[in-house]
Amino acid sequence: MPKPNKTFLRALAGEILPVPPIWLMRQAGRYLPEYRATRSEAGSFLDLCYNPDLACEVTLQPLRRYDFDAAILFSDILVIPQALGQHLAFKQGEGPQLEAIRDASGLGILNVDRIHDTLGPVYETVAKLSASIPSHTSLIGFAGAPWTVATYMVEGKGSKDFANIRRFAYGDPDGFSRLIDILVEATTQYLLKQVEAGAECIQLFETWGGVLSENGFERWVIEPTKKIVANLKVVHPDLPVIGFPRGAGLHLIDFKQQTGVDAVGLDSGVPLKWVAKKLQPLGPVQGNLDPMYLITGGDEMIDETRRILDVLRDGPFIFNLGHGITPETSPENVGKLVDFIRNYR
Ligand code: CP3
Repeated sequence: MPKPNKTFLRALAGEILPVPPIWLMRQAGRYLPEYRATRSEAGSFLDLCYNPDLACEVTLQPLRRYDFDAAILFSDILVIPQALGQHLAFKQGEGPQLEAIRDASGLGILNVDRIHDTLGPVYETVAKLSASIPSHTSLIGFAGAPWTVATYMVEGKGSKDFANIRRFAYGDPDGFSRLIDILVEATTQYLLKQVEAGAECIQLFETWGGVLSENGFERWVIEPTKKIVANLKVVHPDLPVIGFPRGAGLHLIDFKQQTGVDAVGLDSGVPLKWVAKKLQPLGPVQGNLDPMYLITGGDEMIDETRRILDVLRDGPFIFNLGHGITPETSPENVGKLVDFIRNYR
């Protein structure tokens, strides 16, 4: 049962609060000097993800500064391909690199049965967090949604045009669906362990959902998300799940209605009056300040934040960004943002 003073869980349950709960995607990260210090103590980024004491510490750092209403487990969406057996490295300044799987012949290296061997330390981090976050703070577990995780597995790194994965998915849908099925299974198991360890809510990051055709979105975003949500809710019927299908645009309605997620994350491009009229009546929404405003700051950041609050606060709403915080963000601007929202009436 949600504790009554956890505003984040109350908003997720549909309550309209005078001050919306706030957390920020990627709230732990390189914009904080204390994060950079802990990361260098850990060695590499992945060493940090698999070190429960240090991963717990960096999760707590932004809470100490800003008292966010939710903590998000410190890890990465790409621990799943790694746990499945695909080689992963984060090269300094270059982002993630994986040994690309370009077609169905490459799927043989993936093994769902052994994922927990690699992911054990992540569950330990969740358990530590559950014991150490403040009593009014909610704990969010997460995973990448299958399509987004698959983009990195097939492209081998970040991509601009997603040509390799679109070629695989559109050209060999049966072979590609085997990859998606593996990810649905691994992600389900991974998230169930996070919930067992104390995660109170799950967010599925579908960062690259916007690159698909209409049919593609239905088959590779909606369908797998729906399966994961159903798998989780069989075991934990009251577990709130947030889906964040970035770039989904008009698909947001179908996404909300068909996947069974409790709440939807909004990117910065979604028209808010449309959201208030069409999407928010279907359930809570979360978003959507462009993270660039945290770099520019000033009246522009405040005006844009006020616009978001004015349009969305009459329905169930959680304040967040439209995408993750960037390393150039000024920690001072984050403080100003949080103060403004908490004092806004
Ligand atoms: O929100 C949080 O604070 C929790 C931790 C978290 C990270 N990544 C830490 C991280 C979460 C929720 C993610 C999700 C994630 N990871 C996504 C989905 C959301 C999004 O931002 O689109 C994606 C696509 C990834 C994959 C990933 N991880 C990339 C492409 C990169 C490199 C980008 C970069 O800025 O270098 C990462 C690295 C990463 N994940 C960092 C952090 C704090 C930076 C690593 C470092 O310390 O050098």
